Amino acid sequence: MENFRKANIEDFQTKPLSVLRKEWGLLTAGTLEDFNMMTIGWGYFGTMWNKPVFGAVVRPNRHTYSYLEKNNLFTVSFFNDQYREKLEFCGTRSGRDVNKAFETGLKPVAKDGALYFEQADTILICRKMSFLDFKPENFIDPEIMDNYPEKQFHRLFIGEVSEILEK
Ligand SMILES: Cc1cc2nc3c(=O)[nH]c(=O)nc-3n(C[C@H](O)[C@H](O)[C@H](O)COP(=O)(O)O)c2cc1C
Repeated sequence: MENFRKANIEDFQTKPLSVLRKEWGLLTAGTLEDFNMMTIGWGYFGTMWNKPVFGAVVRPNRHTYSYLEKNNLFTVSFFNDQYREKLEFCGTRSGRDVNKAFETGLKPVAKDGALYFEQADTILICRKMSFLDFKPENFIDPEIMDNYPEKQFHRLFIGEVSEILEK
C-alpha cells in the first residue's frame, strides 16, 4: 500500500547542517530483485546546475557503491528514532555478507525505478547527474586525511532531487 504523498520540493525543510550527522539517512539503489542500502552520515543538500540536488559520498569499498554505479536513481530515506538500531545495522554490516532488508525487517518498495523503504518518514528520490572523486592532493586541511586510514576516498554522487515523498 502506498503510504506516501508527494511533497513540494520547493517547500522541503530539513536541518541541512546536522540532519545527516545526527539522524543519519539510508542510501539505497537497485531494483526489488537486486538492491542494497547503507547508512549515511555525510552528504549535501544543495543547488547545482539550477536544480535541487543531493550529494551522497560513498567510499569505493562499500557494496552500495556498485549499486550507485549501475543504477540511474538512488534514494535517501529518513526514519524516526525508533529505527536507529536498524540504521546502525545497515551502517555496520555489508550487503555482501547479509540480507539487510531481511535482517532489519525494512520493507523495500519499488516505484518508477526507485527503491525505498515503507517504514521511512521522508524519502528523496534522486536522478544521478554526475560524480566527483575526492583526491588527497586537493585536501587543503591536512586533518581531512585522518578520515582515510584505508585510503578509501569518497566518490560524490550528485543526484537531482526529482521527487520527495512524505508520510
Ligand atoms: C552513522 C553512520 C554513517 C555512515 N556514513 C557513511 C557515508 O556517508 N559514506 C560511506 O561511504 N559510508 C558511511 N558509513 C559506513 C557504511 O554505512 C557501512 O560501511 C556499511 O556497512 C556499508 O554497507 P555495504 O557494504 O552494504 O554498502 C556510515 C556508517 C554509519 C554507522
